[in-house]
Amino acid sequence: MRGLFTTSLLAASLAGVVLAHPTENGGKRRKTLGFGPDRPHAVFKSSPYDITTSGFIPQSALTSPMDVARIFVDDLLRDQEARSYRVRKDSYTDETTGITHVYFRQLVDGVEVADADINVNVQDGMVLSYGDSFYKGPLLRLHDRSLVEGARWPHTEHCNSLTDELVTRYEELRRSRMANLQTPMGNTVEEMEEALSPIVDAHHSNCLYHDVPHTLAHKSKGDIEGALLQFMIAATPNDDLVNDMLARYDDYVSEMSAHPVNSFAPGESPYFMVNNVPDTVNPVKAKMAFVQIPTAEGDSTVLHPVYKFEVEMQDNWYEAAVSAEVPHRIISVVDWASDSPIPKPDEGRQTGTYNVFAWGVNDPSEGERSIQKEYFDALASPVGWHTIPYANDPTFDMTRAKPKGFYKNTTTTYGNNVFAQENWEGRNAYLDNYRPDAGSSLAFDYKYDPKETDRTDALEEAKGYINNTVTQLFYTCNLIHDFYYRYGFTEAAGNFQQYNFGRGGAENDGVIANAQDGSGYNNANFMTPPDGQNGRMRMYLWNTIIPYRDGDLEAGIVVHEFAHGLSTRLTGGPANSGCLGWGESGGMGEGWGDFIATSIRATANYSDYTMGAWAANREGGIRNYPYSTNETVNPSTYKTLDKPGYWGVHAIGEVWAEILFVVQQRLIAVHGFSDTLFPPLPDAEGNVPEGDFYRARSGKKPLVPKHGNTLSVQLVISAMKLQPCRPSFFDARDAIIAADEALTGGENFCTLWKGFSERGLGPDAKLEGSTPWGGGIRTNDHSLPTACAADKL
Ligand SMILES: *[C@@H]1O[C@H](CO)[C@@H](O)[C@H](O)[C@H]1NC(C)=O
Ligand SMILES: *[C@@H]1O[C@H](CO)[C@@H](O)[C@H](O)[C@H]1NC(C)=O
Ligand SMILES: *[C@@H]1O[C@H](CO)[C@@H](O)[C@H](O)[C@H]1NC(C)=O
Ligand SMILES: *[C@@H]1O[C@H](CO)[C@@H](O)[C@H](O)[C@H]1NC(C)=O
Repeated sequence: MRGLFTTSLLAASLAGVVLAHPTENGGKRRKTLGFGPDRPHAVFKSSPYDITTSGFIPQSALTSPMDVARIFVDDLLRDQEARSYRVRKDSYTDETTGITHVYFRQLVDGVEVADADINVNVQDGMVLSYGDSFYKGPLLRLHDRSLVEGARWPHTEHCNSLTDELVTRYEELRRSRMANLQTPMGNTVEEMEEALSPIVDAHHSNCLYHDVPHTLAHKSKGDIEGALLQFMIAATPNDDLVNDMLARYDDYVSEMSAHPVNSFAPGESPYFMVNNVPDTVNPVKAKMAFVQIPTAEGDSTVLHPVYKFEVEMQDNWYEAAVSAEVPHRIISVVDWASDSPIPKPDEGRQTGTYNVFAWGVNDPSEGERSIQKEYFDALASPVGWHTIPYANDPTFDMTRAKPKGFYKNTTTTYGNNVFAQENWEGRNAYLDNYRPDAGSSLAFDYKYDPKETDRTDALEEAKGYINNTVTQLFYTCNLIHDFYYRYGFTEAAGNFQQYNFGRGGAENDGVIANAQDGSGYNNANFMTPPDGQNGRMRMYLWNTIIPYRDGDLEAGIVVHEFAHGLSTRLTGGPANSGCLGWGESGGMGEGWGDFIATSIRATANYSDYTMGAWAANREGGIRNYPYSTNETVNPSTYKTLDKPGYWGVHAIGEVWAEILFVVQQRLIAVHGFSDTLFPPLPDAEGNVPEGDFYRARSGKKPLVPKHGNTLSVQLVISAMKLQPCRPSFFDARDAIIAADEALTGGENFCTLWKGFSERGLGPDAKLEGSTPWGGGIRTNDHSLPTACAADKL
């Protein structure tokens, strides 16, 4: 039995450990839920042998890619009972590579299976690769009640495994303390303590109220409001509110109201908007769906009816599936918000402060401020950074005023890609928040002269530079938008813009970038809802030193956060934000951000790099190791994921980023280094010259960056589009190799494998006993595919 009683007792006894490392004032950790069912049958196939043996015959290059994908999927499903699907509207052809990404969502009885996707990557009539997590079982089993009884409920499994993990680690720690020795895993007691805190946090966030609503379960069977209230009991960080919801359950349920919304256009299934939901900041979108739950044997899945909710809260934006039959069962939760972690302050070390800001200068310790120009990239930002159509401007009310033309030109940090403003109150509303106004000169030139003060004045002192800080955030975010754009994060691929210039994708989703956000310290986060809804970046002050450091000024943090938007929209398609929720895929969501941030600051002279070192005032940065090809400096390998402390997404991400860093260095050794990551600007006709940036090409082949650093960024971003929803390390590795096949004809096959193998992710690397949240036993493989055997590592 693992009831609430046992778990809270455990949490209490662990409090001593946790309190030994209090987070600095105001550095409270954000509560966040994240778990979901394992999909034991999900596959990603990127080898031509896997694809041709399925019986599918490549089509003529003239066949429309959508038809090719449909023929392929019909063939793939031919022996299956559950064969019905819809082609998702966010499917698109990628202009960067010429590959068409087609997304299929499974339907059963006309209802979506929310976690059943096939993504097919098509080029010239051929299927290059595909991922498949469709439900494979018979339709007959749908109404078999005994399967519900025997199902492995993800929330329960998740909390049981967290509890086991805590008990084991705590026991190890206790023994090591007594013996005052190294722990069995070779870690020091301090490392063990630190390793415990994310597990304690996760346990607290996810499991504290896991068993509470049990008694209320059957009361709310089949009722949206009840299921939603039960989710809010688990989700709210406010304990008083939980108690009140439990005490006045019926009142809360009756105060909520659900209204059906029927869309006029075909294709979107009907949904409900639920009002008056406690602790939310907007009405909740609710939908009926099925999800797959693993059977007791664990090798296949059964379908279970759920309500799917999109719940926007102050510090979280959840996509959750709650059982419609037994609504105390939360089946899966993804938080579209992602954090950077809060590091421990590194006290007593003297550091300087500098005034710095240009692209490539990672933080104020790396250079001086200089006057930079608005970057007019006719492809990425055709009307620049300060122009937005009246119709897409949320502050402009078309019913009250007549627009003076199509575009509105602003003189503030407000444009088509980014709305940047202060958010000292830490609230959700942002439109009326302060932004610097440079007037008609558009010269945003403000003082930045941080001074040492008393702690009581440090916050006001930092606020005194708000003009500068918002300007910096606006500049960095717009350049990142343009940079990602040129590597394929376009409108059709689901990027963030208010207006899409008729180039596809869903609109009205520029990034809301809040500087000096008052909802926290020593962190940053990014919320990525599906395409067509604004991304939200919150940058915080860091109070680990006086004067306070402002995360807005550290490009690496901003790049990392924006990369959550990139990877979430590209993986599994623009309209699916639920693909990088936890475990290895959630970890890679963190790792890509570190990898890209490091790629941006790197120079031709090799160097190791840290993350967040300036803001955190910590020489080694906020990760366990600097990124380095030197195994003494950074010993991470695939197997490292098994170690204590590698439970959370940031630790997993660090291993992934290190592997990518090593792979990148191998590509640089072969192809050299480009001093700029920005491709040449297009000419007046919109054609992009090859310059010294791209390889010479013939015909309508995609443009492929020529140098090792630019090529590695391109392969990593293109691979995000190829990989399946909820990718593993293996899937993401295979997608990078598949991207190279598509872009260069596989020229770097052995170079890439050498990089992956160097850090244990060779072709025979293994994961046994995997759990969706990253558990299991891993085996490194340092070998190479036979095709590369002649090469030495
Ligand atoms: C805004 O700028 C665009 C050029 O970027 C120009 O065509 C347009 O006339 C300007 N609109 C107003 C209202 O000044
Ligand atoms: C920001 O700039 C404006 C002028 O554009 C100035 O009036 C204001 O005082 C500045 N704010 C701060 C906090 O310096
Ligand atoms: C790289 O190092 C060389 C020699 O030490 C130096 O001349 C050059 O300026 C450096 N380049 C960069 C981009 O730092
Ligand atoms: C790797 O790092 C260690 C520790 O800093 C150093 O002693 C060693 O020389 C480095 N190895 C290489 C090949 O640079």
